[in-house]
Amino acid sequence: MDSDDVTRLYENFPYPSPTADSGPIEDVANGLGFLIQDEDLTGWRVLDVGCGTGHRLLGMALRYPEARFTGVDASAASLVVAREAAQRHGAHNIEYVGGTLPRLSLPRDFDLVVCTGLVHHLPDPEAGIRWLSERLSPNGLLYLWLYHLLGEHDRLLDRELVQLLRPSDPREPGLETVKALGLALSDERYGSHSGTSVASDEVRDVAEADAYLNPIVHAYRFGDVAGLCQGLELEWLAAFSVNNDRGSRFIDLAGFEDDPYLCVQGPELVPPTLRERFAGLDRADQLAAIELVLRPTGFSVAAGRGKALDLCMPALRGNVFATPAQRRPTTPC
Ligand SMILES: C[S@@+](CC[C@H](N)C(=O)[O-])C[C@H]1O[C@@H](n2cnc3c(N)ncnc32)[C@H](O)[C@@H]1O
Repeated sequence: MDSDDVTRLYENFPYPSPTADSGPIEDVANGLGFLIQDEDLTGWRVLDVGCGTGHRLLGMALRYPEARFTGVDASAASLVVAREAAQRHGAHNIEYVGGTLPRLSLPRDFDLVVCTGLVHHLPDPEAGIRWLSERLSPNGLLYLWLYHLLGEHDRLLDRELVQLLRPSDPREPGLETVKALGLALSDERYGSHSGTSVASDEVRDVAEADAYLNPIVHAYRFGDVAGLCQGLELEWLAAFSVNNDRGSRFIDLAGFEDDPYLCVQGPELVPPTLRERFAGLDRADQLAAIELVLRPTGFSVAAGRGKALDLCMPALRGNVFATPAQRRPTTPC
């Protein structure tokens, strides 16, 4: 299986919505408000890689009209919908580029690179993250959203069963196999609504195709991402959020925020007698404990270099758990 097989799926089922009538999806735009201190991102150059039908990109572009956005996707059918949706909503600050990672050549000067739901469908996720990190300006910030291994365990087993029973011709979409097995994905699976006011049958079909028919799927824990980023020119890697069917919450290991519905700090997840022990863990182990308790379906991280960390919210700075590009101190000669 390679990228062309993945692209074929999204040509048949443009994600997240095959119609330009669906409204913008706000979750990533909302997340940026908790990630970055700058309130309007004036002059920022933002790249959304694997933007699909662009409903999340549209949410960002309308929220931040003073920023300039570039959306990239391998699926031509998805970009047709994305362009139409942008036009309908009067978003004039987006340009779209068709192309496949990591072959595609693009400038290396983006202030923010957003990539939601793509890396886990790449044949070589490490090469994909390298390509993303290479698109950053010297002070650039990377935002990644990925499937989480623990909360996705059962769904990935269901997907494996579908792959065994689906028609063997890969050109057959295979959705009837998903339906015959009675599989369905809840709207709340990743903690936020699909973004359309009422999920139409078409939108549900796309969500189920994405969940069960994808030829390539990986899933990760926080620690795995540190491994994927190892050796890249990223000076820090921080946990940002976790999702499951009970909601989406930001991570706040250093305890900056005061809202348990909005943020996960960690100690509150374990019995009072174990809180001191939790507090004594390093950040990577605190994150491991959090994911073992919450078993998220999805999660996000931020990474960057130069001044990017100073541009982020204090809570994010308290969540740094790895330094991928850390160089050994040089011995003076
Ligand atoms: C699950 S969708 C995510 C869409 C959007 N980012 C969102 O979160 O709503 C994954 C998208 O990545 C695109 N894609 C998959 N492999 C790609 C590649 N190698 N290069 C560029 N785009 C790719 C697919 O065409 C699809 O639109």
